[in-house]
Amino acid sequence: MDRIRIVGGNKLNGTIPISGAKNAALPLMIAALLTDETLILDNVPRLADVAQLQRILGNHGVDIMAAGKRPGDREYQGQTLHISAANIIDTTAPYELVSKMRASFWVIAPLLARMHECKVSLPGGCAIGTRPVDLLIMALEKLGAELQIDGGYVIAKAPNGLTGADIDFPKVTVSGTHVALMAAALAKGKTIITNAACEPEIVDVADCLKKMGAKISGAGTPRIVIDGVSKLHGARHTVLPDRIETGTYAMAVAMTGGDVQLAGARPELLQSALDVLVEAGATVTPNNEGIRIQRNGAGIRPVTVATAPFPGFPTDLQAQLMALMASAKGASRITETIFENRFMHVQELARFGAKISLGGETAVVDGIPHLKGAPVMATDLRASVSLVIAGLAAEGETMVNRIYHLDRGFERLEEKLSACGANIERISG
Ligand code: UD1
Repeated sequence: MDRIRIVGGNKLNGTIPISGAKNAALPLMIAALLTDETLILDNVPRLADVAQLQRILGNHGVDIMAAGKRPGDREYQGQTLHISAANIIDTTAPYELVSKMRASFWVIAPLLARMHECKVSLPGGCAIGTRPVDLLIMALEKLGAELQIDGGYVIAKAPNGLTGADIDFPKVTVSGTHVALMAAALAKGKTIITNAACEPEIVDVADCLKKMGAKISGAGTPRIVIDGVSKLHGARHTVLPDRIETGTYAMAVAMTGGDVQLAGARPELLQSALDVLVEAGATVTPNNEGIRIQRNGAGIRPVTVATAPFPGFPTDLQAQLMALMASAKGASRITETIFENRFMHVQELARFGAKISLGGETAVVDGIPHLKGAPVMATDLRASVSLVIAGLAAEGETMVNRIYHLDRGFERLEEKLSACGANIERISG
């Protein structure tokens, strides 16, 4: 199994290109199931999760063509996928495939909307809390589907198609909103989603669905209105930049010190995280090509932060912030409000000497001047990268084991960081 070896202490200087957002690319690829015409997606990141979803869609009979290099392509350009679900030959999403990635469960929405039936295994994915699918099921039932859970599978039917409805989510859910949006796009009549997630990835998917002929308004606000249409068509769409990757590298620079241009990043996608970085002592300068992050001289200031749905501080940056605060000058408080149990990185950060105490959903981090490199184990996707950030600033050698989680969500991480002066390498096998 691959590992990552880091010798800490180097400042980061240079340019890091930001890839397309994993959390938009996945639902966009799934949305291709809604039409028998070709959906072309540009700027799709090269990630293990994307490859896994290609396998899952392939099992339904979807053809995916990854276009080769074209004249003028930049070195770090995401891939273009031509996705054609002209013939859906199988409406079952089996356990062996779905259990590897939680988001693949979302195929339930387009399969049900277009094929009026499907059988989808209950999901797996990162071990960060219980992560149920009750609200996704609630949304589909509101739209008229009959659902039954049997043998670990959700068996869904809507013999006469789905019908528009009012869907009021009792809590903000990204997965629930994606599923409701995709299913309602092909339902008969009007759907109103209230307390919808406002994440930029929801807006990106809604924009793509609109290009495919869907009638959607209000995406990016808590109230989304969808007027169902009987058919969607092909379209071409560019995946938006990854705000979590952006925030992760910004925190890495704040941690090591240095000066890095995050090329292609969009500040409005992560303003709350950028505000926290400024509070912590980094200089953040949005410019025409992205965002420039600098930290020189003075140490890291402690912060008090609670994760929240967009536009709040993202839960997907919580672990990275904790790594940063591990060497702040004073005590920080970090509260996780989205996922219970998303603190597996705490015990791994402690291996670097970090002083973190947990009480309920709040971690108190007492910063220490110097972390020390250590062998550590990656637990989930974002936790893994927090260990990389800590290793970049720690004295001596860090070995991050079990990095397959990193490959699920970070494209060419070690290449991007070593190009900016980090001493980091992948050790295969
Ligand atoms: C998505 C992101 C993930 C991010 C999370 C929150 C993708 C592929 N993943 O995950 O990176 O951390 O949003 O921003 O986009 N919940 C229920 N019942 C449900 C569904 C969710 O109780 O049926 C709960 C969850 O357990 C969690 C909260 O709602 O406590 C938010 O979950 P949700 O927003 O749906 O997260 P995901 O879409 O799974």
